[in-house]
Amino acid sequence: MDYRFKIKRYNPETDKKPHWEEYNIQAEPTDRLLDGLHAVKWYHDGTLTFRRSCAHGICGSDALMINGRNQLACKLVMQEAQKQAGKNQPITVEPLRAFPIVKDLVVDMEGFFAKYRAIKPYLINDEPPPERERLQSIAERERFDDTTKCILCAACTSSCPTFWADREYVGPAAIVQAHRFIYDSRDQSTDERLTILGERGGVYECRSIFNCVEACPRGIDVTKAINEVRQALLFHS
Ligand code: FES
Repeated sequence: MDYRFKIKRYNPETDKKPHWEEYNIQAEPTDRLLDGLHAVKWYHDGTLTFRRSCAHGICGSDALMINGRNQLACKLVMQEAQKQAGKNQPITVEPLRAFPIVKDLVVDMEGFFAKYRAIKPYLINDEPPPERERLQSIAERERFDDTTKCILCAACTSSCPTFWADREYVGPAAIVQAHRFIYDSRDQSTDERLTILGERGGVYECRSIFNCVEACPRGIDVTKAINEVRQALLFHS
């Protein structure tokens, strides 16, 4: 089938600002949008730049704004992308909003990962390790199961109007990652993380707009996680 792509392009070496370019490609309706981007790159313009790695919705590197909403290019099939765009309309592809564009569809994620690192996204437990693993009940493990699904694609943070307006805000992805450790019974650094998230730019900046829930390709209930971190803050204060 024929498909029409409208892709936002930007080359910092030659362009003053981003502009749209259109491409006609052939693809199967069940091909992924990532296959369509490869078709543009391989058969039309080898300079088109985008990130991808696993092509299976695991690495989180190909989150893009497709048809005006944040989605993973490797999880969206062409026929669904066309349905979203509307009959005879081009499928639009843009870089994630609110991050500096490096080139074409690639954005600078350093600020995003700096916020992620700030909440200490690793297990902290100073007790000597037991002979075998640190045991946990099924209920204790389930308590943070939802937030273990995060793949750090930034679709949630980039879709958040609060983040657009206030770049100090750590954003939903960092809070989801903090939730994963705050509710882990083996971790001992809850107070440290809650202190960070209780400050300006932390969890109280969220306005419960729910864009993050809609954007998350892993189906994480992001707003629920944010509210649970707020509850933890109340409990610990
Ligand atoms: S390429 Fe890894 S999530 Fe899409």
